[in-house]
Amino acid sequence: MKPDETITTVARAVASRFTAEFGGEDPRVFFAPGRVNLVGAHLDYNGGLVLPVAVDRGVYVAARLRGDRCIRLRSIDVPEAVDVATVDVRDVRDLAHGWASYPLGVWRYFHERTGAEHGFEMVIGGDVPIASGLSSSAAVEVATAKALNELHSAGLGPADLAMLGYMAETRYVGLRCGIMDQFASALARDGHALLLDCHESTWEHVPLDSATVEILVMNTGVPRALGDTKFNQRVAECGEALRILRQVVERPCLAAYTPGDIDRAGDRLRSPYRERARHVVTEMHRVRDAVDGLKTGNIGALGRALNESHLSTREDYAVSSPELDAITDAARECPGVFGARLTGAGFGGCAIALIEPGRRADIEAHVMSRYREVIGRDAGFDLLREGTGPCEITFSAEDGRPGP
Ligand code: GLA
Repeated sequence: MKPDETITTVARAVASRFTAEFGGEDPRVFFAPGRVNLVGAHLDYNGGLVLPVAVDRGVYVAARLRGDRCIRLRSIDVPEAVDVATVDVRDVRDLAHGWASYPLGVWRYFHERTGAEHGFEMVIGGDVPIASGLSSSAAVEVATAKALNELHSAGLGPADLAMLGYMAETRYVGLRCGIMDQFASALARDGHALLLDCHESTWEHVPLDSATVEILVMNTGVPRALGDTKFNQRVAECGEALRILRQVVERPCLAAYTPGDIDRAGDRLRSPYRERARHVVTEMHRVRDAVDGLKTGNIGALGRALNESHLSTREDYAVSSPELDAITDAARECPGVFGARLTGAGFGGCAIALIEPGRRADIEAHVMSRYREVIGRDAGFDLLREGTGPCEITFSAEDGRPGP
């Protein structure tokens, strides 16, 4: 359970909108966190290691089962209401359903997995900026999966919830992402980062002490729409790099190759496949260095891994932007910054800086003024803490709602 004091206004907002919209008995409210990925950029769909941290922001859903086969979805942030009969939720999304494709995709796979037939009604809201690289879509998916699991008492575990979200995103919505975001949200543990092996689907929780390091999210103010970007193109390029490298030596996934393999491929691995492969292979070393840094309390090493990761995503993977470069360069100029890099897929959205606790104000002021100077617009900032995994929210009597 998320303790009462952390119930946000968003949780209350989804509950009251639900009552206004659907009436009747109070809904149940569930939460799933967004995430930042410390290091391991674009490694998940290449079978590599990633190191995300769930944050104390995310998505809240107020939900209730219906007696019939109808799904009714509302969002606090988007005006379009979506009502669909369960039989009309097919194998791939209907573009007319827009934002609601994410929860509908989760229902589609929940239904396949558990045989559940009932429709449901749900209001969604969140306090993680949409399309900024903090994985709002995975948080929607995991919160929906959590709600369906609890409302049906289906008994699925956290990794199952993550897989429902992953299938919704890749098969139903059609983004060829890896498993990181949904696992980061579903498996989150307070005070820990998640070291996830995306080839084996195994994980380890690695302690992250917020007394030693804080995560400053720096929003470039340029939204990033994944479907419109070159994300799927990068996935395809990595597939091609893997196909070429397999002519040299057979390995299970692109992340399992070595710099020596890339050299041996010679001219067969031409641009841009060489650069894409080089990013993936070198990023694996940076994840291992970052984990060693975390485990030994060497935050400097963790920060260096972030800086080098940003450089590699910019030069070899080509997913940075002038805004992301400017904002991370500005952060690195500040005392008290261990390292900075873009987060999420790149192409706009947010970057993160790992900072010494207590330094936020000076760092923000410097980054803001440099970013204005170079880019000519304002940056947004948020200090995030590592957060809890999916949970049900209960309201206390003072909120005018029943307790647990
Ligand atoms: C997006 C995808 C993730 C991952 C990152 C890049 O957030 O959803 O699966 O590939 O980009 O690391």
